[in-house]
Amino acid sequence: MENKKRFYITTPIYYPSDKLHIGHTYCTVATDAMARYKRLQGYDVLFLTGTDEHGQKIEDKAKEAGVSPKEFVDRIVEGPQGVKDLWKLMNISNDRFIRTTDDYHVAAIQKIFKKMYENGDIYKGKYVGKYCKPCESFWTESQLVDGKCPDCGREVQDAEEEAYFFRLSKYADRVQHLLEDTDFLEPRSRVNEMVNNFIKPGLEDLCVSRTSFTWGVPVDFDPGHVVYVWVDALFNYTTALGFLNDKYDDYEKFWPADVHFVGKEIVRFHSIIWPAMLMSMDMPLPKKVFGHGWLLLDGGKMSKSKGNVVDPYLLAQRFGVDALRFFLLRTFPFGSDGNFSNEALINTINVDLANDLGNLLSRTVSMVGKYFGGTLPETQAEDAGKDAELVELISNLRARYEEQMERYAFQNALNEIFKVIDRANKYIDENTPWVLAKDMEANGPRLARVMYNLLEALRVCAVLLPPFIPQSAAEVLRQIGACEDCQTWESAGVYGSLRKDVTVQRGENLFPRIDMDKELTALEEIAAQAKKAALPALEVEPQLEEKVDFDTFCKSDFRAVKVKACENVKKSEKLLKFTLDDGTGTDRQILSGIAKWYKPEELVGKTLMAIVNLPPRKMMGQESNGMLISAVHTEHGEEKLNLLSLDDKIPAGAKMC
Ligand code: MSP
Repeated sequence: MENKKRFYITTPIYYPSDKLHIGHTYCTVATDAMARYKRLQGYDVLFLTGTDEHGQKIEDKAKEAGVSPKEFVDRIVEGPQGVKDLWKLMNISNDRFIRTTDDYHVAAIQKIFKKMYENGDIYKGKYVGKYCKPCESFWTESQLVDGKCPDCGREVQDAEEEAYFFRLSKYADRVQHLLEDTDFLEPRSRVNEMVNNFIKPGLEDLCVSRTSFTWGVPVDFDPGHVVYVWVDALFNYTTALGFLNDKYDDYEKFWPADVHFVGKEIVRFHSIIWPAMLMSMDMPLPKKVFGHGWLLLDGGKMSKSKGNVVDPYLLAQRFGVDALRFFLLRTFPFGSDGNFSNEALINTINVDLANDLGNLLSRTVSMVGKYFGGTLPETQAEDAGKDAELVELISNLRARYEEQMERYAFQNALNEIFKVIDRANKYIDENTPWVLAKDMEANGPRLARVMYNLLEALRVCAVLLPPFIPQSAAEVLRQIGACEDCQTWESAGVYGSLRKDVTVQRGENLFPRIDMDKELTALEEIAAQAKKAALPALEVEPQLEEKVDFDTFCKSDFRAVKVKACENVKKSEKLLKFTLDDGTGTDRQILSGIAKWYKPEELVGKTLMAIVNLPPRKMMGQESNGMLISAVHTEHGEEKLNLLSLDDKIPAGAKMC
């Protein structure tokens, strides 16, 4: 065991700010495929995933939900249909799961931060720049695209505060060399992007602490500062091995990582900031960062805020986990973007899994049953002319597959497998077993060899398929009667490992064909229902049947009013007293029963709409001259009120008509 070759692979650690979607699932499934492939080859694999739980976004979301940040992330990480549940469902074989709120990680991050401070690579300064809250990223003015975040295109905020900085600029040359002169970052196209967009314009020092929120790892030697979430997050790859902590003892064994799989928008963090910080810490660099493409929906990125996320739970439930895993890696080249659609998913299942693989298996097993009672005879007759091509393809498959897997080209590796499956299906038609079976005495040995070759084709494919479809591949091996020795990586490189007198076991149809039209309609219906369920339960008052004549309505005098002052009315829980500029030069007082929804101070300065020609009314001993206009509805049984507010450009006294 100790002498086994080692392989350490990681996924990004996910933000538990919302439920994960199919885009997140894509990266983890790919990492799982790689980890399973390396285990199959005999490596001692460590596959790490986890969650990145600090930062302002999480703090804000928790506040919105009315719970503490820890309670909030606990729910999304550990709760039903949470992150851990999803990986279990998708049959993800991670060996370890790190949460950045774990004590051992927090303590290690404090030590790491201090070490870089002590070696002079972290220093205190003042941060003036732009911050993208959803991405938790700082940007300089020159990095913005049209004044917006270059990653997500959203608005950025001005940021100015005392902060610690990491001397990223010091490492610019070394990082550029790493990117340009080694194959640290793949695909190569991402190298140009990093060098041209980030390094050549000049790498500025990076702001690595924040004081405007508290949900983060505290800088222990300077209370009030929390460590920038990306510093906290990136070092997870080492703390999860036991770096500067006693929780694990695998750092020496597994660091440096063999590969970090990351989505393309976080390549910048992994290929520039991460190596620079490791250089500062004098730690070995990971061997590779692979930046994969995005799964798009209708050409755009999936995101909760756009409301276009695809739910992996729903797809796995309708099509099966293996079919979903297979689709993700079969359809899209890993390094490029790909467009997700239900049609593409169903089509892949029908063509590759139901038609090609599923049919080959069920036809072969049922023919062995029908012609030989389930067990092949040892006496078999080859026909070199007819067998050579298939046998050659089977014999070389492992090498061709390996070449592609080593390049993380999952789609190509599957192409190689499906070349054999297609060839085997064609081999059935060429050899017409049903014709041979008409004269078993003369053709029995030949028919037996035809069946054997089909079983061998299925075996080698099924030995190489577990990274993609772990459960179904095991079922193929069971149905074709593969012994343990002929399920190994070594045996996949050799034609003829299966016993000649193999006994097959008939089983369930692995991938039933899906009725495309019916399924698409069902999925559309589910999506419509989900959309409806996501809308707040609005209860709006019915419209009045009674009509008001036009002249009467025109007598109502609606005006823009500016709030000069606002306060609670003593002894009243409901009333707010407004002093308003109504454009006449004399202040107007209006009382309004909205204290339940608004604090007086948040309304000062606002431009509102009021009806100003109502007769005066006395409330709690004070006079009210008019009424402020609000929108009222009921949500989940609770009354909601929103004052109608106007653009501040509208002057006080402007008439509404
Ligand atoms: N927390 C950081 C990673 C820190 S790693 C030290 C983060 N988290 S994330 O939850 O926003 O994203 C995790 C991964 O999911 C990223 O690699 C991201 O690219 C990937 N994906 C999110 N949506 C995706 C698609 N639609 N398609 C493919 N991958 C996508 O970033």
